[in-house]
Amino acid sequence: MSRVLRPNNPFTTKAIYDFDKFYGRYNELSDCCDQLRFSGEGIDYIFVAGEQRVGKTSFNNIIGKIASGDHRFFTSDLSFFTCETSFKQTRTLDECLGQIINSILAKDVKLLKRFNIDSITAGVGVSAKAPILGVEFTIKPEFTFNLTPKNIELIDKFVEIVKYIFNQRKYIDKTGILIIVDDVDEFISKNDFAGFIKILDEMLVRSGIHNVKLMVTGTILSYEKMIADETAISDMKLIEINKFSYPRICHYLIEILNKEKLQVSDLVLEMIFNITEGLMYDVQDIFTQLLKMKKDNTDIVTIMDFETALKTVQETRKRAFKVIIENNLDFNHKDLLLKLMKQDEPATLMQLQSEFPKEQKKFVINYLNKLITLDFAIKDADKYCIKNKLIKDCLNELKSLYEGEGIHDKLC
Ligand SMILES: Nc1ncnc2c1ncn2[C@@H]1O[C@H](COP(=O)(O)OP(=O)(O)OP(=O)(O)O)[C@@H](O)[C@H]1O
Ligand SMILES: [Mg+2]
Repeated sequence: MSRVLRPNNPFTTKAIYDFDKFYGRYNELSDCCDQLRFSGEGIDYIFVAGEQRVGKTSFNNIIGKIASGDHRFFTSDLSFFTCETSFKQTRTLDECLGQIINSILAKDVKLLKRFNIDSITAGVGVSAKAPILGVEFTIKPEFTFNLTPKNIELIDKFVEIVKYIFNQRKYIDKTGILIIVDDVDEFISKNDFAGFIKILDEMLVRSGIHNVKLMVTGTILSYEKMIADETAISDMKLIEINKFSYPRICHYLIEILNKEKLQVSDLVLEMIFNITEGLMYDVQDIFTQLLKMKKDNTDIVTIMDFETALKTVQETRKRAFKVIIENNLDFNHKDLLLKLMKQDEPATLMQLQSEFPKEQKKFVINYLNKLITLDFAIKDADKYCIKNKLIKDCLNELKSLYEGEGIHDKLC
């Protein structure tokens, strides 16, 4: 039997940029917009916290649009100059700083010409390329986020540029700068984030821009680290992005599938929620496959459709997990992973520590954080567990890779 292929798959595992595809999160969006509406003196900080693959980048993208004046979601007048950067792409703080500066400059090609520069990256050195500025900004390994004379020079040049931008007529209506820094997790512990903030603060405030919002995303762990660092930020607005509830997932799927002239039974909806536990990435992944693979011409999503799609997703995940386990976990991590797999309920740190020998107890938190970073585990209200059933099922099938490697077994 031949069939018509769906020209557009409405599901995606990529971060969302369009309002039309972005579902829900109204409270979080308006909470964030309220912060943007309030015009502060220096830098105001917003931290968007959520577990991996929950929807932080999509949230950022929509906020970016609203902040630059898109009125479809929010009626108040917001007109920020927005710059986005991500640690996943930049890897170091100075690269990130360079990208922020570039993103401000890149909005204006003429401006680059006027200052006779191609682009700027953080760090200071002399350049023939930029005679007007007299300095070239290149990444130097020794770059530190302190107010050294050279860094002050960098700041002064930046201030000069930003002032120029803001004096231009076309930017006159801009109410401030919104800087979005995505995925700080990996870097927050390794880098001098407080120093980074200090430099950024100096640059932006000295540019005479009085309404600067720095929106950072990461997990709740990196939020805790950031506010625990006394030299960094004391007052930070926290916006939490959580997994979707069962009614929200049902509503979302029914709405989208209806547009595709497809129906879905309550049983399939229940199955999808049970396996994903409301993590939109997994919902999207399974349904992307499902629509790709739907072989019959019926207008119903059957249990078989769901199970076939799930199987494909699981096979792909298992292949990826195998590599992650083999390359990233030592026997302590594996031991902890096994213990987490055995838990029926989320466990506290103390409960998990009690299963380790005395000399290992203080390291359990590090092992946990590693499993969280690798996206196998989550911390929810001070308890730890495997991320969701989909991941648990995949890990279960890979047990031979981490079973019997624990310290106890080694000692026996
Ligand atoms: N509001 C939403 N409506 C519909 N789908 C969403 C929404 N938010 C996220 N998703 C879907 O969830 C998945 C993950 O989204 P996103 O990349 O924004 O998450 P993230 O938290 O930034 O992930 P990571 O931890 O990998 O950076 C994508 O498939 C995206 O399509
Ligand atoms: Mg992201």
